[in-house]
Amino acid sequence: MLLEVQHISKSFPGVKALDDVSLSFYPSKINAILGENGAGKSTLLKILTGVYSPDQGTIKLDGKEVRFENIADAQEAGISIIHQELSLIPQLTISENLFLGREIRTPFGFLASAEMQRQTLTALARVHLDLAPDTLVGKLKVGEQQLIEIAKALMTDARVILMDEPTSALSDAEIENLHGIIRGLKREGKTIVYISHKMEELFRIVDHYVVLRDGNFMGAGSMDETNSSSLIQMMVGRDVQVQEKTMAETLGSEVLIIEDLMLRHPYIKDRNVLRDISFSLRKREILGIFGLMGAGRTELLETIFGLHPKMSSYTLIVDGQSTLFNSPQAAITHGLAFVTEDRKEEGLVLGMDISSNISLPNISQTPLLKEKKEKNLAREYIGSLGIKTPSENQLCGNLSGGNQQKVVLAKWLSTDPKILLMDEPTRGIDIKAKQEIYELMKQLVKDGLSIILVSSEIPEIMALTDRILVMSEGKLTAEFITSQTNEHEILQAALPK
Ligand SMILES: Nc1ncnc2c1ncn2[C@@H]1O[C@H](COP(=O)(O)OP(=O)(O)OP(=O)(O)O)[C@@H](O)[C@H]1O
Ligand SMILES: [Mg+2]
Repeated sequence: MLLEVQHISKSFPGVKALDDVSLSFYPSKINAILGENGAGKSTLLKILTGVYSPDQGTIKLDGKEVRFENIADAQEAGISIIHQELSLIPQLTISENLFLGREIRTPFGFLASAEMQRQTLTALARVHLDLAPDTLVGKLKVGEQQLIEIAKALMTDARVILMDEPTSALSDAEIENLHGIIRGLKREGKTIVYISHKMEELFRIVDHYVVLRDGNFMGAGSMDETNSSSLIQMMVGRDVQVQEKTMAETLGSEVLIIEDLMLRHPYIKDRNVLRDISFSLRKREILGIFGLMGAGRTELLETIFGLHPKMSSYTLIVDGQSTLFNSPQAAITHGLAFVTEDRKEEGLVLGMDISSNISLPNISQTPLLKEKKEKNLAREYIGSLGIKTPSENQLCGNLSGGNQQKVVLAKWLSTDPKILLMDEPTRGIDIKAKQEIYELMKQLVKDGLSIILVSSEIPEIMALTDRILVMSEGKLTAEFITSQTNEHEILQAALPK
């Protein structure tokens, strides 16, 4: 055993995140930590890298007890981590991010920019990214940022690489790319610890697993000798029904019609990010939008939500009335809500508690009534969405990744929207919570809502939607009735021509 933990416990106010956990990771193998949202997976990785110190218990590396005060200590010992919440600085370039805090200098003390650029190119090539080192990280897609985090970890020559949900924001093609990179690392003798909620992916790549439930160790074994239902049983404590296809409810009239939508490129003149997009959404419909990373799906939702008023042009009819949204506020007033993909950047204020976050878009209340109402509302959603927290006063930054995503959803549901735009709403959410969110979406459309769902997971889009639009390179390339199409056809339409 290269890396072991023995009798590790860690408590936070109101939660025992890890309770006397002992387990080990196999050297030169891909090890997975499985468990529901809030099971303690990220906490364990943070203890292994000195971000948190355990209340009790020991960590052993190569049979010797080690103690890390901070990430740098762990890195020194050869353990590197890629966090669930991306930690790159958007205002800095790729190269500046990769060398942050360990800049290379010339003998005279100047920054050795050329050398750092050269090493950045090498690092980018390792993760198959073809980008200029001086690109601002803030301009990159979440998926690209994820790969840069990985490139950064690889630069420190780690023997053990801990990856907390590296694929949650990646498209299938990018996951394939990442798996290739990880297999290569394993061949080089690196030890990988990997967290993912995507069962099918775990069976493709992982050698050994450990399962946590509510901070307790539940079991471990070889991936070859188990199957997904027994793993789920271990994680959840009961069987989970796997998603079955929705029955198309009777759809109503068109609630949103968009015609000739165009979005200009922010930096390149005469280039369009989106063009010639026309479609409509009907009452009680779930309309899926599928596309590979970079196809323009997020930009499409942003444009509809009034986030690019100066750069876009289109005809929009909402509820029979021709309109234009020159701000998100205007969109909200017309009954739209937007559950964004990147919960840290746009979805949540991590330094505020759950109830304030949920009430964020509801700005029209009197302060006196406000707090009590906020708390009641928060308690309601904590119950109905199963948000795992000691109370509604918990800071969102202290919630597990999946539970943060549920708060984002609650925040937008609380505006009582008529049209819900959802961008990868189940990213990082465990299998049970996913089913709950699917059920919720079905209930919402039954109650008269309409949903546009952007997802990179074909099974998810197939299971939930009535119709699927496919995007590629900023254009719509196909439209399918969900019950009359298949995975192959959808992927085919999504590939750039
Ligand atoms: N800094 C903190 N302060 C307070 N509570 C915390 C803190 N960090 C984690 N917790 C709590 O500890 C528990 C375990 O959280 P952890 O982030 O380890 O879960 P996880 O298994 O990674 O879940 P997910 O799949 O949702 O990412 C949760 O209840 C979480 O709210
Ligand atoms: Mg986590």
